Amino acid sequence: MAHLLAPSLLSADFAELRKAVELIEGSEAAWHHIDVMDGVFVPNISFGLPVIKSIRKHARKPFDVHLMIVEPDRYISAFRDAGADHLTVHLEACPHLHRSVQAIKAAGMKAGVAINPHSNVSLLEDVMADIDLVCLMSVNPGFGGQKFIERTYARISALKELRTRSGSQALIEIDGGVGLENARKLVDTGADVLVAGNSVFGAQAPAAAIRSLA
Ligand code: DX5
Ligand code: ZN
Repeated sequence: MAHLLAPSLLSADFAELRKAVELIEGSEAAWHHIDVMDGVFVPNISFGLPVIKSIRKHARKPFDVHLMIVEPDRYISAFRDAGADHLTVHLEACPHLHRSVQAIKAAGMKAGVAINPHSNVSLLEDVMADIDLVCLMSVNPGFGGQKFIERTYARISALKELRTRSGSQALIEIDGGVGLENARKLVDTGADVLVAGNSVFGAQAPAAAIRSLA
C-alpha cells in the first residue's frame, strides 16, 4: 500500500496525550491528525488551541488539523501559531470557501477542505485546483469509533476523476471508520491518506496497529 497514515489523537487517552504523540513520532505514521470540535458545527467538543500548542513541543511530524467548527476563518492565524502544518476547514462551515482556502495558504499552511457524507464531491470542483488536501468524511463528523459508510468508495472514485479533470494535486484523505478491514480497498480505490483513531488507540497494541495500517 502506498499511502500515508495519520493516527487521530481524538481516540487517545487525553490524560496521556504526550505519550500518544511520542508513539506516533516513533512509528511508521506520517502525520498527527488533530480533531478540533466546537459543539456547534458538530455535537461534540474535543480540545483547542492551548492543547495543540502544548503537544507541538513533543512532535516533529506534521500536525494535520481538522477543524469541525463554525466560522473557522476567525482562527486561521491562531492555529498556525499553535503549530498546525495543514489546516482543514469544512465545506459546510464556509460560505466563502475560496477565501478561507486562500487565507490558510497565505498564513503559510497547507489548505485542506473536509466534506461531509451528504455533500456531493462535485461541490469541490471550483476550489479543487487551489487546495492541497481533501478530507473525505467516511462517517458523520463528531465522534471516533463510528461505522464506516460504504458509499465512500464511490466518492473516492468521483473525487479522483474530479482531481484529474481540474489539474489538482490535492491528496485524498479518508476520515472515519478506517481499520484493517477496509484500509487496503481504500488505498486501491485511490486514498492517499488514511486517518485512524479507534483502530489505533483502541487497539491492544497501538504501535503494532500503526505498523499494519501504514
Ligand atoms: C471524526 C473525526 C475523526 C475521528 C476518526 O469526526 O474527524 O478524525 O477521530 O476516528 P475513527 O478512526 O475512530 O473513526
Ligand atoms: Zn478528523
